[in-house]
Amino acid sequence: MVGSGGREHALAWKVAQSEALDELHAAPGNPGIAELASCHPIRADDVEGLLGLCRQYELDLVVVGPEAPLVAGVADRLRATGVTVFGPGAAAARIEGSKSFAKEVLHAAGVPTALELGEARAPCVVKADGLAGGKGVFVCRTQEEADLALEQALALGDAVVVEELLEGEEVSLFVLTDGVTALPLAPAQDFKRLRDDDEGPITGGMGSYSPPPFLAPHEVDELVDLVHRPVLAELAARGAPFVGLLYAGMMLTEDGPRVLEFNCRFGDPETQAILPRLTGDFLGALARAAEGALGGADLSAGPEAAVSVVLAAEGYPEAPQVGLPIRGVREAEESGAIVFHAGTALRNGELVSAGGRALGVTGLGSSIAEARDKAYAAIELIDFPGAQYRRDVALRAVRVPS
Ligand code: AMP
Ligand code: GLY
Repeated sequence: MVGSGGREHALAWKVAQSEALDELHAAPGNPGIAELASCHPIRADDVEGLLGLCRQYELDLVVVGPEAPLVAGVADRLRATGVTVFGPGAAAARIEGSKSFAKEVLHAAGVPTALELGEARAPCVVKADGLAGGKGVFVCRTQEEADLALEQALALGDAVVVEELLEGEEVSLFVLTDGVTALPLAPAQDFKRLRDDDEGPITGGMGSYSPPPFLAPHEVDELVDLVHRPVLAELAARGAPFVGLLYAGMMLTEDGPRVLEFNCRFGDPETQAILPRLTGDFLGALARAAEGALGGADLSAGPEAAVSVVLAAEGYPEAPQVGLPIRGVREAEESGAIVFHAGTALRNGELVSAGGRALGVTGLGSSIAEARDKAYAAIELIDFPGAQYRRDVALRAVRVPS
């Protein structure tokens, strides 16, 4: 398991439940992953280090969690030496690495997306072209905001994409794929803004839940037919088949679904809400996707709903404080919630913050309301001075009759 975030902890947690698993190694992992795997101090982009681990432990499968190593071609390098890898090569990972490439593929595949605008005239959305950890997007309702956004986006690097501002419900829809077959996972909704009522800056994601009550199962299949399958076919036709997890972020507008973005890996924190719901052989499905033989795999969701709330360190997203003590994780787990570690570290045996988003607390229940209550009750048991978290994750979904 390559990576060290909440997503990788959730992946490790799910994989660890598989009877087929003999040994789990993580590079570099985190304190939560360390309870399930042997962690090695090797960075996610250290190809030589990863190859060394593969040889030393004769690893059968490598799962690459984060986007940066995928976009940089880590999966290609490992595959070239005969390692079986879950995660796309650089040519396919560009679908996340470059927003202009993603647009080009969407147009070629005939998939509906936000219209591109020639200039930053409000209302509009301004996006930095390259990877920005979800922080390079500016939603502008006034011209003042648009002017400022253009300046900030240009400061992040190369090109800037401007598109129409879309309104509606947002949904994150993932498929597992071997490049040809697409296996949809349960949909989720992500809470991108830092503060309640969708205020504050866009972050990597402050919480998630699954399933969104406004999306029927047959609609999920229709979305995958409309979006993922044509895009996978287009990438394959270009000689860049996508093996791994293809994430589409979509807006369900009055005029129909529109793709906002693609990611080349599992969403964080959506994964922390989706994986606990899945039945079936998850590790087996990852291996089969990596081996090009996904046909027939089944990863349907059970009846329980899940709500996951992120606890971020004070100062996130601009300047998260590291080294702040985090206590009460055990108590939170004993209350029945699942606590996924992201930016945490052990210092003299004590758990402390080590990044922006520190923990993801997932509650499961027979309804979204029950799952929500579980997650928030567990958070009450965690003592993390200055922690920021949203109180309204999945709140609207509780109010919508399903
Ligand atoms: P992205 O990284 O492209 O997904 O953008 C991050 C977030 O910005 C999305 O999850 C949406 O909440 C918002 N966003 C992106 N594009 C648009 C758009 N065209 N209209 C409205 N909101 C958008
Ligand atoms: N939660 C949004 C992302 O993973 O990009």
